Amino acid sequence: MRKTIIAGNWKMYKTIPEAIELANGLKRELFELDGQTIEIVLCPPFTALSEVSEVTQNSNINSGAQDVYWQEEGAFTGEVSCKMLKDAGAHFVIIGHSERRQFFGETNDSVNKKLKAVLKNGLIPIVCVGESLQERELGKTFDVLNNQVHNSLKDINKEEMVRTVIAYEPVWAIGTGKTATPKQAQEVQEYIRGLLVKMFDKETAVSVRIQYGGSVKPDNITELMNQPDIDGALVGGASLTVESFSEIVKRAQKVKK
Ligand code: PGA
Repeated sequence: MRKTIIAGNWKMYKTIPEAIELANGLKRELFELDGQTIEIVLCPPFTALSEVSEVTQNSNINSGAQDVYWQEEGAFTGEVSCKMLKDAGAHFVIIGHSERRQFFGETNDSVNKKLKAVLKNGLIPIVCVGESLQERELGKTFDVLNNQVHNSLKDINKEEMVRTVIAYEPVWAIGTGKTATPKQAQEVQEYIRGLLVKMFDKETAVSVRIQYGGSVKPDNITELMNQPDIDGALVGGASLTVESFSEIVKRAQKVKK
């Protein structure tokens, strides 16, 4: 049984007061949900991480960061370490988001270094993978995913793999309003799980949670969650209001796996 995980990626939105308001609103709206059956994660910008962690402390909601650097400390201007994230109350870290790959030079190699540091520090990584529109149109989706999955998850052991969450986010579906159809998402996520069987073993592969991300909304979450290999969602735009994110979480929880 894989526990459903819905994470909100707030990207570069929300000042500290706005972040506190959103986290408080979600806490009020979602407090009745059973934390045994669903995991809820909020990933604000670094500047609001401490405050969001404080608001969500002792609730069924966790906080997470949107990125991390793999070194423990040092002269790395602008970077933030795992220890600092833990200090700010984070439990989760998004790694290798397509916007980081696209605009900030993130590679499978740097994702792998970050992943190892995050696992070593006892945080839960959410590793993002996904093809671009051009790659899909050229029929390269599976090749791209194969390469990203192998290289991003290189040299980790089975126990570490089970702790790792994968987010499949087709780049062409992010922030565009174009969701992959549930069938398209399922097809790729089944393929990813198949790769994990080969890289680790069946038992490990069936324990790993794979989220879908890319224009997830209250209207499409149920159908997505109904797919056998979709274990949750990484939500961008629709995670920025109490109404839409809480509705996504509630609908996802209703889908019995
Ligand atoms: P979106 O973003 O929901 O706005 O498409 C998803 C993401 O980038 O994680």
